[in-house]
Amino acid sequence: MLVLGLETSCDETGVALYDSEHGLLADALFSQIDLHRVYGGVVPELASRDHVKRMLPLIRQVLAEAGKDNSDIDAIAYTAGPGLVGALLVGASCAQALAFAWDIPALGVHHMEGHLLAPMLEEQPPQFPFVALLVSGGHTQLVRVDGIGQYQLLGESLDDAAGEAFDKTAKLMGLQYPGGPEIARLALSGTPGRFKFPRPMTDRPGLEFSFSGLKTFTLNTWQQCQAAGDNSEQTRCDIALAFQQAVVDTLTIKCKRALKQTGLNNLVIAGGVSANQALRQSLEKMLIELKGEVFYARPAFCTDNGAMIAYAGCQRLLAGQHEDLSIKVQARWPMEQLPAL
Ligand code: KG4
Ligand code: ZN
Repeated sequence: MLVLGLETSCDETGVALYDSEHGLLADALFSQIDLHRVYGGVVPELASRDHVKRMLPLIRQVLAEAGKDNSDIDAIAYTAGPGLVGALLVGASCAQALAFAWDIPALGVHHMEGHLLAPMLEEQPPQFPFVALLVSGGHTQLVRVDGIGQYQLLGESLDDAAGEAFDKTAKLMGLQYPGGPEIARLALSGTPGRFKFPRPMTDRPGLEFSFSGLKTFTLNTWQQCQAAGDNSEQTRCDIALAFQQAVVDTLTIKCKRALKQTGLNNLVIAGGVSANQALRQSLEKMLIELKGEVFYARPAFCTDNGAMIAYAGCQRLLAGQHEDLSIKVQARWPMEQLPAL
């Protein structure tokens, strides 16, 4: 089955062609980062309008790259939520219009299920069951995964998501959007041990997260340094490193707890923050101790992309799922509501 995947939940237009027999055939992405950067974050209306501009050229591009024609496509998968409603509607209406015109089925895919399954596109995919740490701009969740659609939420963030914390903290320190990669870049030149930040909610049992206090702690540290006349680049790097280490340690401690609680020793990390090298290294070290393994996607498939939507959609379409012609998207959509395959 050849599936066209469309991702438009936020500020990336992602399009891909996934074949159930031959794997990923083509994948293209247009990132709107430059468009939103001047505003310091995503402007939803601008995002929607830009998805409209990019979608059809990107579809033509992946078809050309894969050497395929419209008539070769068997089904279309699109992100139906969670995300920005206007942006989601662009992908959903495009998918439904093409599916109607080409007389093929269309299926709305859950964006976080897309992220969760993205490591399946790699050479050594994880086997079920496993614990997944989903860390994106909108979500921080620990999930027990027993199969596609068999998700048990173990814990999540009570306030900011991990990616959101990176983005907001970066903004407070005058760094560019998106903040995650910027903080990771500065942290490489940071002095270990100069600042010690808290590891929120690790001193009590449970698998919940809270990152908003860490953001305030960072702001206070940065303001105190500035008040003392120190706003050097080195200090910014040192604070970036302290913040990143606090987030990484907190996520690692909770992942270890989740693995112990479930008795599992395979961990999948997915979503934009799973591209973070310090996080990957910390989790790998912890999994060596637990005699388990950590799985993640290549960096381009950690952040938003069309390939993960084509893949996740393909699994569900193969099982016979598809939508009627109505265009439905959801800004909020708990992943546990998805049917099991
Ligand atoms: O999954 P994603 O592309 O979009 C959402 O579904 O939200 O995640 C984007 C988030 C942003 O908050 C971005 O700052 C963060 O992922 N991010 C990173 C890194 N790359 C992207 N955070 C930390 N380190 C990175 N290398
Ligand atoms: Zn995402």
